[in-house]
Amino acid sequence: HRTIQLSPSLMTMDLDKFTEQITFLNSKVNSYHVDIMDGHFVPNITLSPWFIEQVRKVSSLPLSAHMMVTDAPFWVKQLIAVKCDYICFPSEVANGVAFSMIDDIHAAGLKAGVVLNPETQVDIIKPYLDILDKVTIMTIDPGFAGQRFLESTLSKIVELRQIRDEMGLSYHIEMDGSTNLKHWKMIADAKPDVYVIGRSGLFGLTDNIEDSWSQMVDEYE
Ligand code: DX5
Ligand code: ZN
Repeated sequence: HRTIQLSPSLMTMDLDKFTEQITFLNSKVNSYHVDIMDGHFVPNITLSPWFIEQVRKVSSLPLSAHMMVTDAPFWVKQLIAVKCDYICFPSEVANGVAFSMIDDIHAAGLKAGVVLNPETQVDIIKPYLDILDKVTIMTIDPGFAGQRFLESTLSKIVELRQIRDEMGLSYHIEMDGSTNLKHWKMIADAKPDVYVIGRSGLFGLTDNIEDSWSQMVDEYE
């Protein structure tokens, strides 16, 4: 029995095997992670609200949007429109709009999350931590898969667990970036609730999703 939740990062999957891979993973994972970038907050553009609608056609699992965008309120509106289950905005651009974004997401019956880049400390999200459903800790620089794993970010996971216990809160703690066989031991020690698994942890292991899955699970369980 696995207590950790797994959330494959769909920007790292093979689009030529879209339906095959999603169908295989549907019975094995807990949600899907969808990276939304605007080319400004990070120098890349990947998935979109339109892509979320396409995933809906082949999966009923919760979908979680990881926004890497400068104009967070604009993208929150677009993601509410496609009823994305978890809408996670960047803490770095949320000053002055965090409460209204969280309220809008909750009013639509959806879950609200915030993401902390490697340099961002937990302190800046404390004012609204009690109304969040999820906090994502970036363990790499955001924008691209397969980047250097930043071990120092793991202390924020421990800190968030302590605060959650002390304040009796219930947000999930997720980690995103280079979650792979090499790093799992030290990640497991920090005890996040959700692992985002991308290219280095799953899709890039072999060119067949069943083989990649068993290679990952063997190593992990
Ligand atoms: C990067 C994304 C991650 C990434 C994870 O900006 O947020 O979701 O795709 O892929 P890996 O685990 O291969 O770094
Ligand atoms: Zn991500």
